[in-house]
Amino acid sequence: MSDRQLLVSKIENGVVIDHIPAGKAFLVLRLLKVDPKARALIAQNVESKSQGAKDLIKIEGSYLTSKEIDLIALVAPEATLNIIEDWKVKEKRRIRFPEQIEGIFVCPNPLCPTNAEYTPPRTLFDVKSDDGVEAIKLQCDYCGSVLYYGSILDYIKSDAFSLEGGGLVSKERIEQVFLDILIKKGALRLPPSPDEPFILKSGRPSPYFVNLGALTDGESLAAVKWTFASYVVLLMEQGLLEDFDYVFGPSYKGISLATLTCEGLNELYGMDKRYMYDRKEEKDYGDMSADRVIVGAGYFEQGQRILVVDDTITTGTTKVESIEKLKLLGDHTVVGLIIAVDRQEKMGDTVNIEENGAVEYLEKELGLNVFSIQNIQTIYALIKDSLDESMRSLWLDYYEKYGTVKLD
Ligand code: CTP
Ligand code: ZN
Repeated sequence: MSDRQLLVSKIENGVVIDHIPAGKAFLVLRLLKVDPKARALIAQNVESKSQGAKDLIKIEGSYLTSKEIDLIALVAPEATLNIIEDWKVKEKRRIRFPEQIEGIFVCPNPLCPTNAEYTPPRTLFDVKSDDGVEAIKLQCDYCGSVLYYGSILDYIKSDAFSLEGGGLVSKERIEQVFLDILIKKGALRLPPSPDEPFILKSGRPSPYFVNLGALTDGESLAAVKWTFASYVVLLMEQGLLEDFDYVFGPSYKGISLATLTCEGLNELYGMDKRYMYDRKEEKDYGDMSADRVIVGAGYFEQGQRILVVDDTITTGTTKVESIEKLKLLGDHTVVGLIIAVDRQEKMGDTVNIEENGAVEYLEKELGLNVFSIQNIQTIYALIKDSLDESMRSLWLDYYEKYGTVKLD
């Protein structure tokens, strides 16, 4: 076996970033914001046919590559990105210099409009890279100021530098970013004491309450946009979600989720989808036109496909209602439903506890593909150490009685 084979065994599924200039692997890894728990292998100074010595990174797991991955070109212009599936190279891609870089670098000119104190526009630089990586220049679109390679590199190496979400995205990272924002903004609420649980619409005494209404500030919206858009693209890359034409968000909470998803898909992944939502006040929509009930229906063409996004499901019936409304559009397909948090509980109320969970019901009865960004089992596992004995038993009892999963 050669050195290289010994050092670098094959992987089953994941991403291999090859042909990194020797010594730059750790910088690339930092740019990618690879999950610290990911199974990754970094090889430095391995032999290369063309380069003499090179670095190499292998990361196991399901990943998707965002538009930002091209920024690796700033440190590793010759890098190749190999997507590995079932031990084989499924796709090989050269990293390419982006033509423009938006919102990442700061303009060096203090008088530039992008440095204005109030409502500055996002920065935008044209990339000039005619003579190889060391000669890269970034030119500000607003004032013409130039950033040279040395200062670009210094900035990338500094702690101030960050790529939103990173260039490599995994389900684990999506779950983590979403949970962080839920907790940071108080959207995951715990009762003050075990005797004062939250009483849900179903009458059930819940040990927690997820209130996406707490995610109304700009920082939260940016995180929600990134998580929803990234999850959609990850599901599509994994072949679990079909392509679609519209994102439908049931009013009220679904509306902002649908708009953020569309904006994120465009900004982060270069896709262009439209969104729709329903008017809640139209009750007897039976004999109404789609236009009156569904905002955005004017663009709909027969046979088009719709992705539904929403905050959570408890009973399943409210989802059914909004999906019923989509029938007004005529011939359409709902390719899937993405929810922020799956409560993983059985349908019904305090007395009637049905066999099916809300998600199972939607999957079995309506044939929907349901996906959740977070679920209560994961959330509980991450917070249980911070709960005292009595609070923990409130959770365990609740899920013993109403859960589709058992907690421990
Ligand atoms: N690889 C891997 N696991 C696999 C298949 C490939 O880790 N199941 C790695 C290889 O070790 C190599 C990279 O993915 O580092 C690309 O694989 P391949 O195209 O087979 O290698 P080369 O022909 O050397 O690639 P290139 O032409 O890009 O130099
Ligand atoms: Zn400028």
